[in-house]
Amino acid sequence: MTKRIYNFSAGPAVLPVPVLEHARDEMLSLNGIGMSVMEISHRSRHFATIIESARAGIRELLNVPSNFQILFLQGGASLQFSMVPMNFLGKGQTADYVITGFWGRKALTEAQRCGNINVIYSTATSGYKTLPEQAELNFSPDARYVHYVANETIEGVEFKYDIDAGGIPVVCDMSSNILSKPIDFDKYALIYTGAQKNIGPSGIAIVIIRDDMIESVPTGLHTLLDYRAIAENGSMANTPNTWSIYMVDLVCKWLKGEGGVEAMQQRNIEKAAVLYKAIDSSDGYYTGHADRDVRSVMNVTFRLATEDLDNRFCSEATAAGLDGLKGHRSLGGVRASIYNAFPKEGVYALVDFMQDFAQRVG
Ligand SMILES: Cc1ncc(COP(=O)(O)O)c(C=O)c1O
Repeated sequence: MTKRIYNFSAGPAVLPVPVLEHARDEMLSLNGIGMSVMEISHRSRHFATIIESARAGIRELLNVPSNFQILFLQGGASLQFSMVPMNFLGKGQTADYVITGFWGRKALTEAQRCGNINVIYSTATSGYKTLPEQAELNFSPDARYVHYVANETIEGVEFKYDIDAGGIPVVCDMSSNILSKPIDFDKYALIYTGAQKNIGPSGIAIVIIRDDMIESVPTGLHTLLDYRAIAENGSMANTPNTWSIYMVDLVCKWLKGEGGVEAMQQRNIEKAAVLYKAIDSSDGYYTGHADRDVRSVMNVTFRLATEDLDNRFCSEATAAGLDGLKGHRSLGGVRASIYNAFPKEGVYALVDFMQDFAQRVG
């Protein structure tokens, strides 16, 4: 096999090797049909089986109730920043946004083009290192929905509870922690995610939406921006990203074989704990970005004493086979993304590298 390195990229991110091998083996002939998945019609029975299986896989893994539909869309999670307000924020209506980092701010910018937005909480003053307690959130009585980001991928802060908006529909961007743990669907009206971290390659977004939200979509939206139209057309209002859906299906099957999201959650907590321990026991050589109680299990963010040291750390790490550690350009520092498919051995390798670097470079 070609040598694989440890890939800490925030997304597109590491995929399970057995999934890549399976896709490789079927590249020229899917299931013996003599064509690859990228060459068959999305209307063929072969692809119908795949999209159904991908949907069923997500439903089973996350225990998605029957009053939620699972949609596959294009445009990434970013298009959802626009589709959510376009579908739910009518003229004169208000939506509440909880802003806890970079992606929440992006969502806010798009929503503000559509209607009245109340930022009911922002952690800007803490440098996006903290998260609100549930009791600190005061919702607008007439809010059409509340939007928040479950795990801010760049800052590495992750909610440890589901926001309860007392009956106001809760919309959540779970792009960087979906499938890392179970989800309580009683708490949500709509969940969306880009696939390229925990579910598959880029080029596909997944929306899990409650039926009553679909029913509330106004008429007259452009077809590809209309949740109802996407749902009615079985996510095939136009040609879907057949390759990505195929990969999502394979990742779901892999995940099931690994024990599902409960097993993943356990593993993810263990992996993150090893890294945070290395940060906390470094006598301040490495400093974590997020406050301890809101640290992300998926994206571990930290920095060294200077930007030069951050850069040296990342380039030496790359040379040592630990790639993708450079923090996002908006925040700097170091970020280790350790999604479901990231192996525990890679975390240990990074910890060894951190200890060696601190001793050597000082
Ligand atoms: C939490 C979160 N939301 C949204 C996005 C944007 O996703 P996309 O590039 O699929 O539009 C990202 C990408 O990293 C993300 O981490």
